[in-house]
Amino acid sequence: MIRVVFVDPDGRSRQAEGTEGTRLLDLAQADGHPLEGTCNGDMACATCHVVIAAEDFARMPAAREEEEDLLDLVPAASRTSRLACQVRLTAALDGLTVRLP
Ligand code: FES
Repeated sequence: MIRVVFVDPDGRSRQAEGTEGTRLLDLAQADGHPLEGTCNGDMACATCHVVIAAEDFARMPAAREEEEDLLDLVPAASRTSRLACQVRLTAALDGLTVRLP
């Protein structure tokens, strides 16, 4: 299992576990976090915006250009922002910390 620590907007954190290939969006929703994902991965909404912990960001696979373009439109985006619908769990991401804005 691949462990991910989600940090809610109020600062509370909780660890979830997912399998290889699971989308970060699906793991967060299955664990009860308030992450919308309105377009369900069509990259049309950015309601799945999350912020990866800075110390973990180097382990992330690179975002595609379409994801970068959509993140540019998110006012609260930061240098380590990603769209949770575009990130799939791999063993290399075990222990990832993800903040939900
Ligand atoms: Fe809409 Fe990710 S769910 S962009």
